[in-house]
Amino acid sequence: MDALDLMLARRSIRRFTTQDVALEDEQNLIDAAFAAPSGNNARPWHFVFVRDPATRARLKDMHEWTWMLDKAPLVVAVLGNDEDSPWWIEDCAAAAENILLEATALGLGSVWCGMREDATEWSAAREPAARCWASLWASGACWRSSASATPARRRSRARSAR
Ligand SMILES: Cc1cc2nc3c(=O)[nH]c(=O)nc-3n(C[C@H](O)[C@H](O)[C@H](O)COP(=O)(O)O)c2cc1C
Repeated sequence: MDALDLMLARRSIRRFTTQDVALEDEQNLIDAAFAAPSGNNARPWHFVFVRDPATRARLKDMHEWTWMLDKAPLVVAVLGNDEDSPWWIEDCAAAAENILLEATALGLGSVWCGMREDATEWSAAREPAARCWASLWASGACWRSSASATPARRRSRARSAR
């Protein structure tokens, strides 16, 4: 699959099977996150990979639109530190998108959940260097088949915009 096909295939997935994400796949997601570009190469991001059900349930309860987090086998908290770089939001967003695209390539469903609350309390015990939420990101095997009308529709929209 070339890069454009991958981007066109990505969709937000909010319903997951109970199948776990393989450790090998998780490593690929980590590699994708760290491959993102970074302003001044400051790399102010921190990633917390969460599988523990109780922690996922707690994350789910932190926001109105994160109701799927306790059902996703894997949740990634993307955290930044605003003291490390003025570009921390852009950098974390680039990393989050990289994760989404790699998940798509691996056949995993995923959704990006925006979080802008102060992360200090949640992350203090896990990632003390992080200060701010950038986003939460959920992934897992999904029910949806990869066949979908959406990519074609998006492609034609992009073409007609030229
Ligand atoms: C910054 C950001 C925050 C988002 N927050 C949420 C969220 O809290 N909950 C959710 O279900 N989807 C969230 N989404 C996913 C969007 O709803 C989704 O990308 C949009 O509806 C387009 O659908 P698509 O991803 O399938 O192309 C977020 C996406 C972005 C980029």
